[in-house]
Amino acid sequence: MTEQEFSAEQREALKKDAMAYILPHFADNAELAKGPKVFVRGDGCYVYDIEGHRYLDTFASLLTTICGHHRPEIKAAVLKQMDDLEFFPNYVDTFTVPLIQLARKLAEIMPGDLSVSFFVNSGSEANETALKMARQYHRERGQPHRYKVVARRHSYSGTTLGGISATGIPWFREYFEPLLPGYLFAPAARCGECELALKYPECELGCLRALENLIQWEGPDSIAAVIMDPIPGSNIGYPLPPDGYLQGVRQLCDKHGILLIFDEVQTGFGKTGKWFACEHWNVVPDIITIGKGFTGGYIPLGATVTTPKVADVFRGKPGCELRTGSTYGGHTVACAATLANINIIEKEDLVQRAAQTGIRLKAELEKLYQYPIVGDVRGIGLLWAVELMADRRTRTRLDSQLGVGNFIRQWCWEHGMILRNNGNILVIAPALIISDEEIDLMIALLEQALAVATSKYLNP
Ligand SMILES: Cc1ncc(COP(=O)(O)O)c(C=O)c1O
Repeated sequence: MTEQEFSAEQREALKKDAMAYILPHFADNAELAKGPKVFVRGDGCYVYDIEGHRYLDTFASLLTTICGHHRPEIKAAVLKQMDDLEFFPNYVDTFTVPLIQLARKLAEIMPGDLSVSFFVNSGSEANETALKMARQYHRERGQPHRYKVVARRHSYSGTTLGGISATGIPWFREYFEPLLPGYLFAPAARCGECELALKYPECELGCLRALENLIQWEGPDSIAAVIMDPIPGSNIGYPLPPDGYLQGVRQLCDKHGILLIFDEVQTGFGKTGKWFACEHWNVVPDIITIGKGFTGGYIPLGATVTTPKVADVFRGKPGCELRTGSTYGGHTVACAATLANINIIEKEDLVQRAAQTGIRLKAELEKLYQYPIVGDVRGIGLLWAVELMADRRTRTRLDSQLGVGNFIRQWCWEHGMILRNNGNILVIAPALIISDEEIDLMIALLEQALAVATSKYLNP
């Protein structure tokens, strides 16, 4: 389908119907009031709207299309699977060939001995399953009193009630209280904004000590799992944990028999320059959850991947099986698409490429400090955040009412670039295939937008 196929009347009718018949996810009525944006086609890092405008997508369709749009290899795999068998469920005792092949491939690329997968449809479901898995794991081992879950402030764990119960961002939670009991929150490991007002390294990892104190206070025997995103995501803009923190969390969990869950829905599949973010610190959790870029954006799929030690608790004798599942989890065509996606990542060495491109991107983004409105540049690989501030030296926030981040996003949109922002945090998380020319274009547009924003808001 191309934009040429639509008359002006058809375009208008589609936009009208979008407004009439759809409630978008996390809708923004102020943005919708400017008119809905309707997309018809994609190619590489670009997408085209129904008017035929082309946009460089610096957020890769919500961090999913990591190998770019319009990959013939993935399309061919999907079509072949559609011909062979479009769907059979992974239910009770039934499997399909792409499902088994994908599980085998995951066992090969996941860190440590994470090799047993439970397939779902999204990142939220992957976390939901991990949390259920942790609770049942302890129950099966005769410790039903271990039910509490420790999450972290400022982390996002998904949109389901279990997901938001483990989410440390009030905006996602506040309208849905009361949430699940037994969910506790430790501080984020976020040196730039340390909530304990400490300085690394003199702090000697105060955030880790705070986690330890929380576990001690609650009673280590009551805790089923610690869930965390090793690098928190786009909502707070990828603050890297201080060295020693994740290692310390691993030790704490081992000491107290607590399962450690890493949510790599956003950070997995090469986006940090390694297959999984936890590999930067050589820490292997008991469970990793994945989604988003896993399928390259073609068909939804997520997974909760664990070790034989955990999985064995649910295998063998009748009665101990994991009590969860869904109709479409591990969809046959989604598995075929995902295998093709992983195949491209391997064949084109995209993990290594992301690491190299990330070095260049870091250098380019740090040049943006020439604009006084740029307060902080942080990230790794192809996951970056540029935080706007009124004063970098004193880390004074911009008045949120000014909407500077939104202004920059809108300016970029009008100049052919999709940029995600969360308030004054601009997020740059392009596909793994982004080229040097596309990075140059992205930086050039960002520079222009920042120059306009600086003179409009800092020197009015
Ligand atoms: C870190 C993290 N975990 C979980 C999720 C939930 O994934 P999904 O939106 O596929 O349910 C997201 C989505 O943004 C995420 O960023």
